[in-house]
Amino acid sequence: MKFLVTGGAGFIGSAFVRNLLASAGNAPKVKRVVNLDKLTYAGNLENLDPVSGDARYRFVHGDICDGKLVNDLVGEERPDVIVNFAAESHVDRSILSPEPVFETNLRGTFRLLEAARMQKTPRFVHVSTDEVYGNIDAPHEADESYPLRASSPYSASKAGSDLLALSYFVTYKLPVVVTRASNNYGPYQFPEKLIPLMISNALEDKPLPIYGDGMQVRDWLYVDDHCRAILAVAALGREGEVYNIGGSRALANIEVVKRILDAVGRPHSLMQTVKDRPGHDRRYALSSEKLMRETGWSAQMPFENGLPSTIDWYKSNPDWIARVKSGEYKNYYEKNYANRV
Ligand code: NAD
Ligand code: TYD
Repeated sequence: MKFLVTGGAGFIGSAFVRNLLASAGNAPKVKRVVNLDKLTYAGNLENLDPVSGDARYRFVHGDICDGKLVNDLVGEERPDVIVNFAAESHVDRSILSPEPVFETNLRGTFRLLEAARMQKTPRFVHVSTDEVYGNIDAPHEADESYPLRASSPYSASKAGSDLLALSYFVTYKLPVVVTRASNNYGPYQFPEKLIPLMISNALEDKPLPIYGDGMQVRDWLYVDDHCRAILAVAALGREGEVYNIGGSRALANIEVVKRILDAVGRPHSLMQTVKDRPGHDRRYALSSEKLMRETGWSAQMPFENGLPSTIDWYKSNPDWIARVKSGEYKNYYEKNYANRV
């Protein structure tokens, strides 16, 4: 199997590439993995150090919005599977600056779909999010037929790109599958997202900014479980279908943050209530029953093990944290948090 992975230098994409190239046993025989990444603030080639010397791996520095580059690359490599992770992936940044979100998540996905259509790529996996369903009141869970009610520019752009991808199946019979995962966590996650931000602030004894009352609920999925699910969908998912991928671990933010503080031995008084995120979805909840039934996948990493091992990774990689938090991150942090207190 030949894979073209976009956004493979980011958090989930790099885990997917590392796992693909490390895989043995039941995994499909991996002949080649091409990683197309623009290296935005979130892209980091250090995340791929473990595989950079693998002869099957090729990195291409480029933008998925660049139609010529994408067509040429798909034509040259002729991948069996395209997995589209590349995105502007953060809600807060999408609120501060929506334009790059629109460009990459919508126009970039369009360019990839066009290239796949021209080159008749046998499989196109579009990686999406549970945020497309918007807020879900308890006790309900979204299955794949739940209405799309995106709240942020980020989630709206993902909903739009999901629909575009699915339309390429309906109209052109391009073999598309769409996955919608819940909140991921694990090593190498950029410290703008809740868990790595709270771990790194706690390790530096800085305040931990809690949006609003902190009672918003997210369903936590360990990144390697997500990667296995994507592989399962790539191999077994039905064309034109959507598959939810949930961690079955719903927790209020405040509970997650308290666990982090306890694990690193810092006081709960480091938590600081700040102004809420505009349009903040209160609760996400997913049913992954379809994925489990059709592929046999289930989440393997309990949050009780995944959180401490993630914290250990951040504790053991202070240089990685220091590098990603230098430069651009400081400007972002100032912009996002200065007016919140
Ligand atoms: P990330 O922000 O860590 O990484 C995104 C990667 O895409 C970076 O390497 C970046 O350089 C690259 N990229 C951005 N714009 C690009 C462009 N125009 N061309 C080429 N590369 C570009 O994101 P992540 O958290 O790893 O998320 C990956 C995917 O999974 C996204 O599509 C996201 O919507 C989806 N997702 C994420 C989560 C989560 O909790 N993080 C949950 C569900 C779904
Ligand atoms: P985040 O990691 O940004 O993911 P998403 O918005 O995609 O769910 O945020 C997870 C939850 O944590 C969300 O309810 C917002 C909240 N949050 C905070 O309370 N403080 C923060 O500094 C951040 C980044 C998030």
